[in-house]
Amino acid sequence: MEDNCQEQRHGIEDHPDDNPSRICAGSRHDRLQGLRTRRDHDERLGRAGGRFRDDRAREANFKAIGKANKAAKSALEAASPDFATVAASATSIQTDAGKIVGLFPDGSGKESGEKTEALPTIWQKPAEFKAAADKLATAAGNLKVAADAKDAKAATLAMGEIGGACKGCHDTFREKKQ
Ligand code: HEC
Repeated sequence: MEDNCQEQRHGIEDHPDDNPSRICAGSRHDRLQGLRTRRDHDERLGRAGGRFRDDRAREANFKAIGKANKAAKSALEAASPDFATVAASATSIQTDAGKIVGLFPDGSGKESGEKTEALPTIWQKPAEFKAAADKLATAAGNLKVAADAKDAKAATLAMGEIGGACKGCHDTFREKKQ
């Protein structure tokens, strides 16, 4: 029964739009009833001291941010800057920056039992954490404006702002690598 539940949960995670009513049908999780969405499920498990199940969505979002950041950088540093790529990457970073806060629900720190570099300061200083995410969104917005104007100088400045926003947040809210 438990294995069957695990399997189904993996299925749901691979296909997040799947009908959530299939989650762990017939398992003990049925007893945590009222689960309408996967997020709802995660949060309830989080509050119940269970495992946080959205860690991969969080990781994927940061990986996408990192990838778009690199793409913007190399497009801008090309002999003849590719402003269309810079603009598209900027929009992607801005969108993903807007998702950061929602990917850190209560109970998704180390206490979840998942491998995570998220520091407790995220939940101790939620306003500061949100401000750090907003800073990235604003910097990405500035990059988009500069790219649309084909202004390499302003775009380079905005890239610096973006780098500062990553570092600023990581310094305060992400565990340092040993
Ligand atoms: C608002 C805070 C915040 C901002 C802004 C931010 N990060 Fe992060 N980042 C984090 C936290 C917290 C983690 C650790 C998440 C975890 O381990 O659960 C992280 C993890 C990562 C990871 C590792 C993902 C993984 O698990 O494989 C990468 C890569 C990353 N960030 C890149 C960036 C880049 C590049 C930027 C800027 C363009 C950026 N981040 C901006 C907070 C932030």
